[in-house]
Amino acid sequence: MYNEIDLDIIDINSEPPTEEPFRQYYFMAKCRRWVKDFEQKNGRLPKSFVLNMGCQMNARDSEKLSGILRRIGYIPAEEEETADFCIYNTCTVRDNADQRVYGRLGHLNSLKKKKPSMKIALCGCMMQEPGTVERIRRSYRFVDLVFGTHNLYKFAELLADALEQDRMIVDIWEGTDAIVEELPVERKIPFKSGINIMFGCNNFCSYCIVPYVRGRERSRNPEDILQEISALAADGVVEIMLLGQNVNSYGKNPKGRMNFAGLLREAEKIEGIRRIRFMTSHPKDLSDELIRVMAESDKICRHLHLPLQSGSTRILGKMNRHYTKEQYLSLVERIRGAMPDIALTTDIIVGFPGETPEDVDETIDVIRRVEFDNAFTFLYSKRTGTPAAAMENQVEESVMKEGFDRVLKVVQDTARKRVALLAGRTMEALVEERNGQDASLLTGRLSNNTLVHFPGDPSLIGQIVPVSLKEYKGFYYLGERSL
Ligand code: 5AD
Ligand code: SF4
Repeated sequence: MYNEIDLDIIDINSEPPTEEPFRQYYFMAKCRRWVKDFEQKNGRLPKSFVLNMGCQMNARDSEKLSGILRRIGYIPAEEEETADFCIYNTCTVRDNADQRVYGRLGHLNSLKKKKPSMKIALCGCMMQEPGTVERIRRSYRFVDLVFGTHNLYKFAELLADALEQDRMIVDIWEGTDAIVEELPVERKIPFKSGINIMFGCNNFCSYCIVPYVRGRERSRNPEDILQEISALAADGVVEIMLLGQNVNSYGKNPKGRMNFAGLLREAEKIEGIRRIRFMTSHPKDLSDELIRVMAESDKICRHLHLPLQSGSTRILGKMNRHYTKEQYLSLVERIRGAMPDIALTTDIIVGFPGETPEDVDETIDVIRRVEFDNAFTFLYSKRTGTPAAAMENQVEESVMKEGFDRVLKVVQDTARKRVALLAGRTMEALVEERNGQDASLLTGRLSNNTLVHFPGDPSLIGQIVPVSLKEYKGFYYLGERSL
């Protein structure tokens, strides 16, 4: 991997190369020079703080930012207060994500007043939204660097600029075809890793801002993905999560020779990988071939996240989801028929424009019938620029909340009932960490994504061990290691 390139042998006095990723390694070397000067002046290395504020895709992007910062020579800071460089990787899927960023920026401003040498950067989905950059320019002038989702690979180059200049640097692209491979990545958990298999989304669900901020769907080459997985396996990774906004349309844009089911089959052959997960599946594109591949696999986890959004066919139509309530239920039947022990989780939006209490009843009906193992329920959030934002009959907040509470109650009741069925079974858990509350306990994750806490030695972290599930505590289990 280029990861191994020695930055110290790159001649930073020559012109930067035009070809990627070499160009970025050149700028990493340049930043490294800056870091060394900093160390000489201050008697310590600079510290960086990376905050991930979004989904798994964002988390993976944050690992790329951290990887680049580490290669440059920054050491990680635990919190903003001790950092010399702070970067927020933002989300914008709902309005409260935006509000969180503005709230935290106020705090950063006061920190920077105390330490003017501190550099502050913002990136990610929120930066792609029209209006955000103007607002930052107007009201948050202490920010040093702003970039978006399409040019994240240029982070080293942008940082090199920001370290040298005192003005705000803004670089937002409307879109890109570029997929730059082989940049450094730092994994948060050494034995687990996300892998982007595609970027962007072409679905344009009418409420969703993602296609506007992440751009059109682009699949990576299967060879690059499989090579990355092999390298991760060689580096001690046992569990991978294949990431895409809609993994079921992998290989369609650009048209490739391998579809998602094919990619899974190939990934499964890679030695050392014990578990394979993926996120997210759009119900309209989930094929019978994929169900078959999952059912036949020992490595693909028994968990499927299958966003429902609404159980009302009328609302689903307005959402541009391309399936009906009945089609969703029949898909679930086929999945459960092939894999009775699979855990199904979902996303639900309450309060979409025009939604009536009867539509909410339809959603509740689906939840009762499917009995999801877990469901993330969201209040509809109006995103400027999406078709739904311009629809009539926006639902009043009080009505939205009433529907939300009704949905949440059924979600919790059915999920409890469903997960409680595992009591008494012995299942394999990947031990992820020491329990945060009780240091004598370890926390493991079952193939179906349920967490189990059990007494054990931290040397087991990273291993897959059988655990008997003793006591169900509502969304997690207490267990015992079974020998
Ligand atoms: N309002 C509320 N929830 C939304 N989601 C996406 N856009 C919106 C919105 N405008 C939810 C969907 C999606 C999840 C990631 O976020 O349920 O599956
Ligand atoms: Fe948004 Fe729909 Fe694309 Fe998911 S599939 S990112 S909800 S537009």
